[in-house]
Amino acid sequence: MKVLRFANPEEATKAAFDIVSKRLEAGLKTIGLATGSTPLKLYEKLRNTNIDVSQVTTVNLDEYVGLEPADPQSYNYYMNEELFKYMNFAATYVPNGVAEDLEKECERYEGFLRNHPVDLQILGMGPNGHIGFNEPGTSFDSVTHIAELTPSTRDANKRFFDKEEEVPTRAITMGISSIMGAKEIMMLAFGEGKAEAVRTMIDAPVTVDCPATVLQNHSNAIVILDEAAASKLQRNK
Ligand code: F6R
Repeated sequence: MKVLRFANPEEATKAAFDIVSKRLEAGLKTIGLATGSTPLKLYEKLRNTNIDVSQVTTVNLDEYVGLEPADPQSYNYYMNEELFKYMNFAATYVPNGVAEDLEKECERYEGFLRNHPVDLQILGMGPNGHIGFNEPGTSFDSVTHIAELTPSTRDANKRFFDKEEEVPTRAITMGISSIMGAKEIMMLAFGEGKAEAVRTMIDAPVTVDCPATVLQNHSNAIVILDEAAASKLQRNK
C-alpha cells in the first residue's frame, strides 16, 4: 500500500486528480466511483476538463435501498449532478435501489462488474472503516449484496437528510471481493474524523472488523491523505 500525505484536502485532491486524469488519458476502460463528501472536489476538477471519456465506462460502489434515482439523496442523483451530466461517458452503472427484486439487482450488478473489470477504483472510507457500504464484520469474500447500515454510518450520513429517520437502513453495495477485483485502488481520506480508521487501515493487522484493512492485501493500492487524516499514523509510514 502506497501512502501519500498532503498538507490539506486541496493538495490531496490535486494529487488524486493528476492520477485519475493520467489514467483516463492513457486509455483506461472502466473506472469505479464513490459518492460522499470526500471525492466532491475531485469530480469538480474532472468535470471542468476536456478529457474524452467516450470510451470509458463507470461503475459506482453503492446505492441506498428505497431511494428513486430522481431522489436528491440518492447516489444516482449525486452522480448525475456531480459528474455524469457534464461528461460523455460510454456507459454509467449505479445500482438501482428501487429494483423490485433486490437480490436479482445485486446479481445483475455483479454481472456488469464481470463484463467491465475495474481498472481504477476510487474509494472513500467511513469513520468505522467501511468501504462501499461494507460495514465492519463483512466477509472479504463478499460480492454485490444488500447491506444493513450500522447506526454509526446512518449517524455519519444523516447530514445529507432533513431528518435522521429518513436515512435509509439498507443499501446495495459492491462487496469487498468485488472491490478488491480492481486492478488499481485509490483511497481518499480527509479530516480528523477519519484519523483513527486510517491508522487502523495502515498500521493494524488485516481484520474484518475494519474492512479498509483489506487494502493491505491489494498489490496496487494508493492511499491519499491530508494531514488531519494522517495524524495518528506511525511517523515512519
Ligand atoms: C460512498 C461510499 C462510502 C463513502 C464513505 C465516506 O459511495 O461508498 O463508503 O466513501 O462513507 O463518506 P464521506 O466521503 O462522505 O466521508
